[in-house]
Amino acid sequence: MNESAIGSRKAVDFRSDNVATISPEILRAIVAANTGSAAPYGADEHSRQLDERFSALFETIVKVFPVSTGTAANALSLSALTPPYGAVYCYEAAHIQTSEGGATEFFSGGAKLLLLQGSGFRFAAAALEQAIAVSGRGVRSRSQPSAVSVTQATEYGTVYRLDELRAIGSVARSGGLKFHMDGARFANALVALGCTPAEVTWRLGVDILSFGATKNGGMSADAIVVFDPSIVDDLAYRLRRAGQTWSKMRFAAAQLTAYVENDLFLVSARRANALASRIAEGVRNLPDAKLLAPVEANEVFLELPEAVIDRLIADAFLFYRRSPRLIRLVCRFDGSDDDADRFIVALRTHLARG
Ligand SMILES: Cc1ncc(COP(=O)(O)O)c(C=O)c1O
Repeated sequence: MNESAIGSRKAVDFRSDNVATISPEILRAIVAANTGSAAPYGADEHSRQLDERFSALFETIVKVFPVSTGTAANALSLSALTPPYGAVYCYEAAHIQTSEGGATEFFSGGAKLLLLQGSGFRFAAAALEQAIAVSGRGVRSRSQPSAVSVTQATEYGTVYRLDELRAIGSVARSGGLKFHMDGARFANALVALGCTPAEVTWRLGVDILSFGATKNGGMSADAIVVFDPSIVDDLAYRLRRAGQTWSKMRFAAAQLTAYVENDLFLVSARRANALASRIAEGVRNLPDAKLLAPVEANEVFLELPEAVIDRLIADAFLFYRRSPRLIRLVCRFDGSDDDADRFIVALRTHLARG
């Protein structure tokens, strides 16, 4: 069990999947890569194998660029899809809009994020189509439609269905937009949908993917996976210029290769998703406890009375309080059933007290 002491109590940590340990398999891969010399900046054998390994995984030729964070993956991917006067469409609560400090605007040289609404914490193709229709294409005073970005799994732990993505891809293609996917929790979405990486990306028109690993057992590397070869050269320059081309690239490549080897990424995501489902089941039908969103991946958003949240905090459960009555619990590959069960028991006890 992963617990740390807070005062005399044991904390159970649901703050984020970033609080997790590193998968032992990934640590071992770093150690195994730690022999002899290797060419720098991605010219090493580990990096070459990474392209091959991911091309096999995605069932098409891809180019993989390891990067240090999900924010770098998103912002630099999008910068390669839009001119500075372009518009990037995304859901109104997309991470690129709410939580990346304007990184997409910065790296694109000023492109504008245009926000779409929708139900289930995702937008529909019709909303994109409508927005493009009124965009003012060709009007010099208006940002020009250039790209669309979806988050899979979404910021609220829901998942786009394949037909939804196919429809978005089709609108993007007919509108001349490039299609980006923020897959910070890509593995969690794959497990939820039970589909292959190819089925949820390029086969539906996705041009470029931010492929998360850090939140699901990686140490310090996410990746950009490029399906559209016309993006590759431009992106390579942008990454170098942004300080995202590691000199000791072999250690990033080793992490990412280990992450997908023997389906580790899916095994880890399955575990995290199962814990979130366990909590969702445990709190379903409790009076005064309401799930804000269907629990489809590894996050649980729960509305509770303020006093109950205060008591859970006093019990040393760690989580983010999004508002006085709303908490977010994030489950991890290294979490335990016991963590989930202790939360459920505590919640039931506090709710019963009223
Ligand atoms: C959906 C989503 N995208 C991107 C990111 C960015 O990742 P990082 O914090 O590594 O920059 C996060 C991080 O929480 C996220 O939740």
